[in-house]
Amino acid sequence: MFVSIHTPSARKRGEGIIDFRIEMKLELMRPLLTLKEHETLRAAVQAGVRDVECSLDLGLSTEIVAAGVEGWVWQGRLFPYLETCNDRTIYCWVDETFQPVSRYTTSLIKLVPTHWGPPTFEIDGIKMLPTAQTSPYTDAERKVALIQPRGKVILDTCGGLGYFAAWCVQGLATQVLSYEKNPDVVWLRGLNPWSPKADDVLSLSLGDICEQIVSLPSGSVDAILHDPPRFGIAGELYSQVFYDQLARVLKRKGKLFHYTGAPNKLTSGRDVPNEVAKRLRRAGFAAELSGDGVLAVKN
Ligand SMILES: C[S@@+](CC[C@H](N)C(=O)[O-])C[C@H]1O[C@@H](n2cnc3c(N)ncnc32)[C@H](O)[C@@H]1O
Repeated sequence: MFVSIHTPSARKRGEGIIDFRIEMKLELMRPLLTLKEHETLRAAVQAGVRDVECSLDLGLSTEIVAAGVEGWVWQGRLFPYLETCNDRTIYCWVDETFQPVSRYTTSLIKLVPTHWGPPTFEIDGIKMLPTAQTSPYTDAERKVALIQPRGKVILDTCGGLGYFAAWCVQGLATQVLSYEKNPDVVWLRGLNPWSPKADDVLSLSLGDICEQIVSLPSGSVDAILHDPPRFGIAGELYSQVFYDQLARVLKRKGKLFHYTGAPNKLTSGRDVPNEVAKRLRRAGFAAELSGDGVLAVKN
């Protein structure tokens, strides 16, 4: 299985859609195991039950697994039980052993299970997607609906696991331009069954949107989704300079949803949603707080 991503340099060189391919050997990294499934299998053995219904793709589907004392059998293959199975870890099968779906290059990137099914992810221990009230996938659906994706070219500034992008594609966007600056997050996407694959509609560029946005033509997108990490760790994505660029690339009357976190929740002692709205107005938007973000329309 291949995950296609294209680099900013490919765009500049006009080399077409796919610049390079990373072979993830995903089939070899399945099954994906969480504590919930592990406990289900263990409980079945204790109860003397052999066939157990399990999800080995984080709730996307279920299948029957044969649980035994020595291990459990999936797709004709015997897998071992884990000695320690952490409740905040997702395990994938690599090199004949279960390993956590996490990576450390410049920061610790980790896929984290949720009881909803679709996972969230963390960068250096900071949760990137809301999970308390609803599934991060459903939460993305609600936010994407605010910009009405049908028939639109959409700029998705901070791609993450691609849940926003997935709903844009499902909502019949004509084109989704996603950017993600961290290669390890792109690797997580390749392992996460809930993440969309790049195709004719969805492109995922590995790059820093603050740099890349400068080369996007003015008035070239119909709507923007801006879901940056929190203000304290990515201040540049909340700057006036960046908002001026968002206003430049967006067509008149185009919509922008900017996630900010809930109002009244003071981050770094600041009222981030209202500061964002004020700065967006200065950039040429009509902006109002909406749920846990700011919904803006370019004047
Ligand atoms: C809150 S998550 C986005 C989640 C995304 N909406 C989804 O549907 O999964 C923020 C993401 O922005 C990425 N990021 C941070 N700074 C960036 C930048 N300057 N350019 C592009 N991506 C950036 C982070 O690596 C992280 O994956």
